[in-house]
This record gives sequence, C-alpha cells and structure tokens, in this order.
Amino acid sequence: MAKIRTKYICQQCGGEHSKWMGKCPDCGAWNTLEEVVDVPQSPAQQRRQSMLGISPSTHNTHTPILLPQIKPLVQERIPVGYAEMDRVLGGGLVPGSLILVGGEPGIGKSTLLLQVSGEIAKNVGPVLYISGEESMEQIKMRAERLDITGEQLYLLAAVELDVIIEAVNRLKPALVIVDSIQTVLAGHLTAAPGSISQVRECTVQLMQLAKTTQVPIFVIGHVTKEGTVAGPKVLEHIVDAVLYLEGERYHSYRLLRGVKNRFGATHEIGVFEMQGEGLVEVTNPSAVFLSDRAVNASGSAVVVSMEGTRPLLVEVQALVTPSNFGNPRSTTNGIDHNRLVMLMAVLTKRVGLAVGGHDVYANVVGGFTIEEPSIDLGVAAAIASSYREKLIPADMVLIGEVGLSGELRAVSRLSLRVREAAKLGFKRCLIPSAGQGNRLRNEINDANLPSDFKVVTASSLAVALEIALH
Ligand code: TYD
Ligand code: MG
Repeated sequence: MAKIRTKYICQQCGGEHSKWMGKCPDCGAWNTLEEVVDVPQSPAQQRRQSMLGISPSTHNTHTPILLPQIKPLVQERIPVGYAEMDRVLGGGLVPGSLILVGGEPGIGKSTLLLQVSGEIAKNVGPVLYISGEESMEQIKMRAERLDITGEQLYLLAAVELDVIIEAVNRLKPALVIVDSIQTVLAGHLTAAPGSISQVRECTVQLMQLAKTTQVPIFVIGHVTKEGTVAGPKVLEHIVDAVLYLEGERYHSYRLLRGVKNRFGATHEIGVFEMQGEGLVEVTNPSAVFLSDRAVNASGSAVVVSMEGTRPLLVEVQALVTPSNFGNPRSTTNGIDHNRLVMLMAVLTKRVGLAVGGHDVYANVVGGFTIEEPSIDLGVAAAIASSYREKLIPADMVLIGEVGLSGELRAVSRLSLRVREAAKLGFKRCLIPSAGQGNRLRNEINDANLPSDFKVVTASSLAVALEIALH
C-alpha cells in the first residue's frame, strides 16, 4: 500500500509545505498552515493531470510543433440566452471551459445560473445543476418563481466530488453548474469543505472533467467583501474565466464583470436588474441609471466610465457641509477614498476652494464602484458645485483625469465616450484639451453630430470649473 504522507497548506495563499511552521514562508501570514493528508495519485490520475488546460485536440504535447502547422481552434460558442452575459463571456460559452462565478452571498449567483440553466435546457440540451447548498425543493421553488419549466434540467443535491464526476460522465449534459465550490468535497483530502486545499483540489478536478468531456462547467464561489475567504481568489489562476456578480445588496442593479477570460476580452460588463421574477437584462444601462436624476440639485455631475468596450454614463454626487466638530470627515461610496482626498487637496491648493474645513461625501449613484481616473473631473466638479451652491448644467457630461498640478489629463477612448454622451441626448461635453482633446472637439463640432451637441475643452481643473459652474 502506498505510504500516506501529510502536507501543510496555507489557508491564506495556498502555499504547500512539508512541515508545520508558525508563519507561512510564502505570504508571511501567521498560523495559517493546516495539515492535509496527501494520498498519492494513481498513474492514471497523474496522466489526466498533465492534460490539464490542454484541449483533447492538441495531441502529443511533448513534441514541439511549428506554428503554421497548428490547426486553429475553431470554437463554436453556445449562447447562454442572455446577450449581457454572452458579451462578458467573450461571445458565448466555449465547450469544455470552466468558469468561476464569484460574488457575495445573496447577490444572485444561484438565480443567474438557474436562469442560464433554464435557457440552455430549453435551447441547447440537458443541463445538470448540482447544489450542495439548497435542497431540490428549494431550487424547484426558485425555478417556479423564475418561470423555468426545465424539461431537460436535471437537479442533483450532492457534495462528493466523485458523485458529481460520475453524474456528469453518465449524463453528458450540455452544461453543468456546481453551486457552490465551497461545499464540494474530494474524498481523499481530510481538510474541511470550503478550506483552501479542498476548494483548490476540487476545482482542478472539475477542470479536468470539463476538458476531457468538453462539457462547459460553471462553478459558483462565495466571496466576502474583503475577498479573504478561501475560494475565488485562490482559484482565479486555475479556471478559464472568472466572472464576478456585484452590486449593493439593497440596490436592484447587478453587474456581471469579467475579470479573467482565456477566450475573450476581460473587463466587459453585463448589467442586470434583480426583480421579483429574477434577473432581467438592462440593455441600455446609462439611460436607466440617469433616469431618476435630480437635475436641479447642486453637487451632481454626469461622468462616463469605460466598462470594457462599453461606455457607461453615471451620475456622481457630492455633498459638502461645514464641519461641526473641527475634525472634518470625508466618506465615499463607489469611489476610491484616497482619490477623493487627493481631489480635495487639488481643489484647495490649485483652485482656491477651501473645502478642507468641511465634511465631504461623494457617491456613485446606483451602487456601483468606478475605479477609472476619468471621473476625476466629474467628482471634483460635483464637490465644487455643492461647495459653491451652483448647478452644473443638467445636459453636460464631464470627462477628464485631474493631475496634482491641477491640470486636466487625457483619458483613453475619448471619442467613444463623447459619442455615447451625444447618443443619450446630452448637449455639452467638457473634456481635457490635452492629448486628442482639441482635435476631437474640432472634429465633432464641425461634423454637427447632433446639430446642437457641443464639445468644450479645458486645460486645467480651474478652467473647467469656470465653464461648468459659471
Ligand atoms: P441567490 O441567487 O440565492 O444569491 P446567491 O446564490 O448569490 O447567494 O439570490 C438571493 C437573493 O435574490 C434573495 O435575497 C432574493 C433575491 N431574489 C429576487 O429578488 N428575485 C428573484 O426572482 C429571486 C429568485 C431572488
Ligand atoms: Mg446561492
């Protein structure tokens, strides 16, 4: 009988070590090593492991092959029934791919994938939905709510990896959903379900399963706000694609964001709204986000954020009030707090607005987080607007990064952003003169696209505020 060995796996970074230590040498975390019994793999298992990530069509991987002699992989894509999700996947589902769908508990991962299951079962072929979290009756109840009849939708309540692999091999479905990876158990590991070693081992095996059977598999993984819980973060490098479902629990909008994709562009987003009967696609998100905007309030600005290939217009709001306790606070929602502090400093020093002694609050409306610096100008203008109690024109869109000298810096894909603003009926677009700004201004103003749409450029934040808040 093969000798049983133990190894120690760091629950923080997943590093493997042969002996126990107080501190993980890989990531430096204390007290995170956990003992795991390592059953040696059979030669067949090892062979399968070596195939990992390589599709069956590329045989004999040991001999180097000349590039022109490699047949291009013609991937037919399976549409999942939701255009918003297809775009994030890079144009549909690739057979044999393993896709991780991460998100906070309760955000709607099971709902989304049950809806996708319903669509695939209706249009493509049998679907196997494996749940280790909910009973079949609970899933049935949700399916009824979502109006899924599911003639070809098989449910399986299971947590053992062997049972799952067996079922997939027997059924050969068109799609498999594993809900969630934190509940799956590989029998030969002693670690608890949800621990890093379990989650990782199960994902590796599911990857092999997807590659050998060419069945696409969605794996659901829970993440907490900090993203620390064993799971998605550790799995990102194993799987083919990682999608995150995000949004504020108390807002109805949900963003499906691609953060990794071996078969398409990353950073694409799909927008959904959680309604009483499930997730509904939002095909024109900008129009929806701007629909309940208070146009006659100070401290409101419209910015354009590029989400993948798609420009998204959103409202940012700021509120500036005198600080009562001599210790001014600033809070943000959806905007990087450090960025806000930086913009406040630039407003103070370069524009001469003494916002320093004030409490400042800044939000992105709709519950989203925007990391792009192109919204700097909008955020700074919203703060100035609230501070000076002056309105930014309701038909104006602001685009531009703000530098520490108070200059406006060029942003990428400017033309695309400006055109999106015109398409949504805005009349003025304030952009940096740096980079392509002036050329674009002349081009668009000359082209009369729509006739009353005007592009205005500014070289600095001070000049831009003159224009926006006069
Ligand atoms: P769920 O898909 O169970 O979340 P996750 O799998 O990410 O933990 O979704 C849970 C929330 O979605 C729950 O609070 C109820 C809400 N919901 C709706 O608002 N409408 C619906 O049609 C469904 C099915 C759920
Ligand atoms: Mg769930």
